[in-house]
Amino acid sequence: MAEISGTAKLPPSGDKPAEASERLWVIFVVAVIVLLVAMVVYTSVHWGFHPPSQLETIDSTSLHKGGEFSEANLGTVIAPDGSAVVRVVAQQYAFVPNCLVVPAGKPVTIRLASADVVHGFIVEGTNVNAMVVPGYVTTVRTTFQEPGERLMPCHEFCGIGHQAMWAHVRIVEASSFPTDADKQKAVNCAP
Ligand code: CUA
Repeated sequence: MAEISGTAKLPPSGDKPAEASERLWVIFVVAVIVLLVAMVVYTSVHWGFHPPSQLETIDSTSLHKGGEFSEANLGTVIAPDGSAVVRVVAQQYAFVPNCLVVPAGKPVTIRLASADVVHGFIVEGTNVNAMVVPGYVTTVRTTFQEPGERLMPCHEFCGIGHQAMWAHVRIVEASSFPTDADKQKAVNCAP
């Protein structure tokens, strides 16, 4: 303890109760940390939770030059079993395409790649919510039960135009998609 000069003095028995309450706080904080670590271990082991990105890498600087995220592949393709894969590029300051069309009641896999900085996306009213980190492919799997239209804003500050970066998700009856594999072409509802 630092020396106190002058006439100021510690109260005669003041540090005993302080020590006791400090010890209680230390125990409390350690208990909170143990609880949080236990929750992380439990959710990752028992529920298989893991970050949605950082599993699959991609060269973000050459998305437009071909490969999975080239322009012709962006949008929705339907597998013979009716499930959908939607490919989207997130870039300053738009999602491409900016209107996604998906079948209701069928499994939907959304794959996103960033062409520049970190973006995020959330589909309102659902638990679809992830970040899109350049260099990685973000994959989210979900099923939209009800037909309708939902907003999909970028929720990661990505620059001066961030607040204008959002897309629509149009959920339509599965029967309105062609099921015939040779007519398959990535579709979207962008105007
Ligand atoms: Cu993209 Cu904010």
